[in-house]
Amino acid sequence: MTDVKVPFIDLQLRFQEEREELLACVERVLAKGHLVMTPEVAEFEQQVVDYTGAKHCVSCGNGTDGLMLAMWALGIGKGDEVITTPISFVASTGSIAHVGATPIYADVRDDQNIDPAEIEKKITPKTKAIMPVHWGGRVADMNAIMDIAKRHKLLIVEDSAQSMGAYYHGQHGGTFGEAGTISTHPLKNLNAIGDGGMLLTNDDEVARKTRLYRNHGLQDRDTCVLYGVNSRLDVLNAEVLKYRLTRLDDVIGRRRRNVAIYQDKIRAKQVYIPPVRSHEKHSYVMFLVQADNRDALKAHLEKHGVQSLVYYGTPLHLHPAATKLGYKRGDFPVAERQADRVLALPHHQHLTPEQIVQVAEAVNEFYGA
Ligand SMILES: Cc1ncc(COP(=O)(O)O)c(C=O)c1O
Repeated sequence: MTDVKVPFIDLQLRFQEEREELLACVERVLAKGHLVMTPEVAEFEQQVVDYTGAKHCVSCGNGTDGLMLAMWALGIGKGDEVITTPISFVASTGSIAHVGATPIYADVRDDQNIDPAEIEKKITPKTKAIMPVHWGGRVADMNAIMDIAKRHKLLIVEDSAQSMGAYYHGQHGGTFGEAGTISTHPLKNLNAIGDGGMLLTNDDEVARKTRLYRNHGLQDRDTCVLYGVNSRLDVLNAEVLKYRLTRLDDVIGRRRRNVAIYQDKIRAKQVYIPPVRSHEKHSYVMFLVQADNRDALKAHLEKHGVQSLVYYGTPLHLHPAATKLGYKRGDFPVAERQADRVLALPHHQHLTPEQIVQVAEAVNEFYGA
């Protein structure tokens, strides 16, 4: 690439902006000398409860573990089918496979989220749960999904990895179903300094079980009541996330401002920007457009020093790992078409309005718009 003028993400700038506070987090944690499951972890969980309105937050090692912890706690496993979307990061499907259940795909709508009408067609006597993914930070159509789950007595585990700060009819993503999980991977808008994650639930029993599972099933230091795993949120990350959660609305606000500029400045009709409906509050972990001639557009942007990324060029049912699920190209036409067209444009909070205009103009130039 020519010199990068508009980076896709800039974690070094984030460090510069937060240097003092982050180093103070390190100082506080190291000075206390306690590094595992200290009160900082519980304080962070309480802060998330206050922010999201969930009854419980159970932090864990990463978002993928959160999904598996939730499914273990809900008894989802061998012989069960879980309906999910082919448009996601591989962890959604991977977590279903890892608890021993079978992932069943349903196609998506034009906004890339699972289509409730397609879910309904996939229900069999083996269906145990639905796993919608709130892709990019837009909450899936939860009213319709909850209605299906209720009528067919299905559980809902939301892959809300990208929905910290995302709302649907005023309710926070990840709080609709039996459980929802959040990732604090460095590329999320509430990001740890490494991996991290959590599970949201309104169900006391799910909270109780997952608290045990994430810490070896230990009720106390000397009593193991079930065999669990080690998936604890690091104390340093808990302290960093406590601080960053206080800044999350500002981060999302700046991203939203950048997206508004794109919406105003991109004239090319060849670029489809799925509209945000009045009942949706997008968290803009990613700003995803669907573009004709996507790969050439990406190369054109690169020449202008603009980094963009394809999230993702292969829908989940067409990965080699999915071979044994028996799907083929053509099974999910909407998702497949989107995978050929989708592009994430840089929109992070450290970009200036001038940089966003520069990207929008490069897009227009490519299409002669
Ligand atoms: C939609 C989705 N699901 C699951 C995950 C997994 O989260 P983690 O990387 O924290 O395990 C991610 C994030 O990477 C994601 O974007």
